[in-house]
Amino acid sequence: MTRDLTPDLTPDLTPDLTPDLTPGLSVRDEFPIFEHTTYANSCSQGALSNRVRAAAGEWLAGWDENGAEWGFWVERNEAARTAFAGLVHADPDDVAVTTSVSQGVSALVSALDLTGERNRIVISEYEFPTVGQIAHAQELRGAEVVHVRPEPDGRIPLERFADAIDERTALVCCTAVSFRSGHRHDVSAIAELAHARGALLLADSYQAIGALELDLRTLGADVVTGGTVKYLLGSAGLGFMWLRESLRKELLPTQTGWFADEDIFAMSIADYSPHATARRFDSGTPPVPSLYPGVAGMELIAEVGVPAIEVHVRGLVTRLLAGLDELGATVATPRAEVEHGPLICVVSTDPNALVDALAAERIVTSTRDSNLRISLHLYNVDDDVDRILAALEANRALLA
Ligand SMILES: Cc1ncc(COP(=O)(O)O)c(C=O)c1O
Repeated sequence: MTRDLTPDLTPDLTPDLTPDLTPGLSVRDEFPIFEHTTYANSCSQGALSNRVRAAAGEWLAGWDENGAEWGFWVERNEAARTAFAGLVHADPDDVAVTTSVSQGVSALVSALDLTGERNRIVISEYEFPTVGQIAHAQELRGAEVVHVRPEPDGRIPLERFADAIDERTALVCCTAVSFRSGHRHDVSAIAELAHARGALLLADSYQAIGALELDLRTLGADVVTGGTVKYLLGSAGLGFMWLRESLRKELLPTQTGWFADEDIFAMSIADYSPHATARRFDSGTPPVPSLYPGVAGMELIAEVGVPAIEVHVRGLVTRLLAGLDELGATVATPRAEVEHGPLICVVSTDPNALVDALAAERIVTSTRDSNLRISLHLYNVDDDVDRILAALEANRALLA
């Protein structure tokens, strides 16, 4: 089989007014795990679908058949860029394809001058470790890191950000939804505070993208990052970083690679000539094995439609919260719709024992801190929520 190396790989992300797939039972057959398991751990890894499995196989089949399919791989990289852009209503030229959030954020901070008066990075206490660690690594380059800590009820009020951001702040990092507790930040309001003091706002959307509608044209952030492992249903090794057009034109990352060059195939070792678009934040050889499943996962999400997924997940979360109240459980995630996303955290006296007890009933969840994490997505149904609640009732002694 010889591949046509110029196929149209642009995913069709136009919303279908009468989609064949809707959230819930209609899409569930795509995910074999539900034949035997109640899966509520999309905050760690999205469930594997038949089409994502087939796409991963396509990578191996093409390699077997044709050897180095460079032209096709580069096309897949562009298909990933277009798919990310489509999901967040952005222009593909403003999107870098990365191997992880870590790679994108490292490239971003490498482009910031942190040696002068404006050398502070403000981070919320709910950032993923990689963001905090990258921020602190910049102390070696002259940066100062300021933490914005939550109140005793777990919330981080806007005033805390207002207190922390000032004329010395270069960058504010606020995760869209906390991986630890499910708290959702008001990204737009925090961005306004940052902008009023001349700082940039980076939002990590990993725990939101695919489950919550994100429109980067109106979100207010300057940079948004995320990846395919969770609610985008792909594998590890693929992420994105969107940058506001004016910003990506002026920033020059010193963490770079040959796929960030203005002409990859010039193969020059004589200069640094970054691409004019956000591709300047790409790095080396694209994450080929992750591109195939990543694009397939994103196409599935786009086919169902994020707005429909968000409504579906909200219904499941409402049912879960009502059941948790009946059990008298302590919920760490705030109740208001604007303050949470698809992840609900329940306080446990022994979270690892609780995860194990649920796993014994083939219910997959996870833990962080003293919380049990239950995350719901397009493939979950009311019956999953009821099974989880019944299992929690049976293990009531492990709830705080
Ligand atoms: C909020 C958040 N950010 C980032 C990551 C991952 O970062 P990276 O792609 O650098 O591994 C995760 C999960 O793994 C996450 O939950």
